[in-house]
Amino acid sequence: MKTKVLMVCLGNICRSPLAEGILKSKVDSNKVFVDSAGTAGYHVGNPPDHRSVAVAQKNGLDISGQRCRKFSQLDFLEFDHIYVMDKSNFANVTHLASTQDQMNKVKLLLEEIDMGLTEVPDPYYGGQDGFEKVYQMIDLACEAIAKKLN
Ligand code: 4NP
Repeated sequence: MKTKVLMVCLGNICRSPLAEGILKSKVDSNKVFVDSAGTAGYHVGNPPDHRSVAVAQKNGLDISGQRCRKFSQLDFLEFDHIYVMDKSNFANVTHLASTQDQMNKVKLLLEEIDMGLTEVPDPYYGGQDGFEKVYQMIDLACEAIAKKLN
């Protein structure tokens, strides 16, 4: 059976689509399933933000085919690991958990690495440089996750 990993941010158009694309590129798709979702529904059905698509493309990844969806309580049943980008996402997701087992599935993405930061900052209201920084942080964390899962 595949290990299932869900990446979660607020909008599911900037950070978690990058996390989905990056982790997918590092794991064996026969063993690991990766998806992403947002805690808010503002952009449901939309492709990732063009700045995320651009930084992914610069790093050799095509995330343009992804479509935004909203996190649901059913995701606790489907996924083994739920990685959130910041503490606000953590609060929103754990609020929907109904058992301790479900709570235990939720982790801050950057807890996977020791870089002195706990949150992937929301780059939505900034420029392209914010997306570059976010890409590097997510890449390091996904490398650590892939090592554990592969
Ligand atoms: P994300 O960024 O959570 O990394 O996808 C955001 C995208 C959209 C909004 C906020 C954050 N928004 O307010 O529409």
